[in-house]
Amino acid sequence: MKEKRLNYIVSKVNDLPMLPDRVKKIIDITEDPDSTIQDLENEILKDQSLTSKILKLANSAYYGYPRKINTVSQATILLGFQTIKSIALASTVSKMMTHELKGYALGENELWTQSQTCAIISRHIAKEVKYPNPETAYIAGLLRDIGKTILNFYVEKEYHAIINKVEYSNMPFLEAEEEILGFNHAQVGEKIAIKWNFPEELVEAIGLHHSPEKATINPTLVSIVHIADAITMMMGISIGADGLAYNFSSFALDTLNLAPNDLDLLLSQAHDLIIDEDSFNL
Ligand SMILES: [Fe+2]
Repeated sequence: MKEKRLNYIVSKVNDLPMLPDRVKKIIDITEDPDSTIQDLENEILKDQSLTSKILKLANSAYYGYPRKINTVSQATILLGFQTIKSIALASTVSKMMTHELKGYALGENELWTQSQTCAIISRHIAKEVKYPNPETAYIAGLLRDIGKTILNFYVEKEYHAIINKVEYSNMPFLEAEEEILGFNHAQVGEKIAIKWNFPEELVEAIGLHHSPEKATINPTLVSIVHIADAITMMMGISIGADGLAYNFSSFALDTLNLAPNDLDLLLSQAHDLIIDEDSFNL
């Protein structure tokens, strides 16, 4: 039975579509040091809805530019290649993350809102600790729970067994998922990231977002996402069934050279960051 379920979960990951060609192309352009703003603009302009999202975001209070941004090339200059990459990716995965996830007690749009929040906080922490590529932190924070979209069906079926473990055996949610289903949502997310050919540091950050102490490739990135995830939960945004039933790893604070009371500061900054609703409107 368990074997069947494991195979099924793996096949669900395999059935997931690849990232759309246009998004793949935009990612390639943003990662190629020889590409120009014109290259990126040409690709973006082929997609009407992405064009309007980029212009809307560039003009949102979140970015706070004083004058109106009218063209994609202006937006690209102001936002930067890495941010454009995040927007292209986010607008694609948003479709996967807006469904209701009954297994996690997340209503329609809740995983998406929570993921956007975690992404924005990850980027903020990255900037605070002077991590060289804050947009990578944004993407890792955005995708950390994407495995839930696939595990949801089984979590729903085994809901009582999982919650029993969490409540009566005091087992962290992640371990309960793993024990009952054979995979936890972080491991499934890792498989999705591999399927999408993401760089290995991103694969690791998604796979170990609840256990940063296991990181070997980029412990800093994993730690950023771990703390952002904890702050998102503390803010009580779309908490769902698993809520606070995760271990907080002090390894993450140590790795980023943060003290426990820095967490309070980050929490209060996080509240200010997510006030601007435009940044959620992808
Ligand atoms: Fe998670």
